[in-house]
Amino acid sequence: MTAVQPDAAAARIRWLAAPSSAAWLEQALAHPELVLIDHAHCERKAAGAALQLMFRYPRDAELAALLSPLAREELEHFERVLALLQRHGITLRPLAAPPYGSELGKAVRRQEPERMLDSFLVAGLIEARSHERMALLARHSPDPELRQLYGDLLASEARHFGLYWLLCERRWPRPLLSERLEQLATLEASLLTVPHPEPRMHS
Ligand SMILES: [Fe+2]
Ligand SMILES: [Fe+2]
Repeated sequence: MTAVQPDAAAARIRWLAAPSSAAWLEQALAHPELVLIDHAHCERKAAGAALQLMFRYPRDAELAALLSPLAREELEHFERVLALLQRHGITLRPLAAPPYGSELGKAVRRQEPERMLDSFLVAGLIEARSHERMALLARHSPDPELRQLYGDLLASEARHFGLYWLLCERRWPRPLLSERLEQLATLEASLLTVPHPEPRMHS
């Protein structure tokens, strides 16, 4: 193992219970193409998750007003990553997903309004982890084009988890939010401790 260490400041995000490991960063830097393909899928999934919430709660105008621009922005990110893949002759292909997304999905309670709360927090956690990892890639990727890409996307991803937090704060008291976030954040961090054979944005 080389001594590539995730940047402590980039990892210090209130949402996350633990920073990414040096092992993940090293694996990701060794397979930039795979990370890029997975990143494209993540952007598309982030747009899908926002749209899904809009369809699940069609009467909630505030939710729609906040999540519609988010979904659009995620699709713009998707197109940007896709264009980069095409310039480099890399095919966008399906990749086996690590258990991260499905395990977080299982933690979402089925009854309302808990389902809504957990959905917002899980979406925010995924955004926060993307942000943390893009910051690492923006700093450590040897390829300047990749540093630029990840650096450019950082600010939006930070806005995205801020937005999910805003949706929570307008609906639930802070102590209840903090308690549930802590539980889900602990789960989220634990899902990243089992190494995946190939690097993913969330593995
Ligand atoms: Fe994005
Ligand atoms: Fe995002």
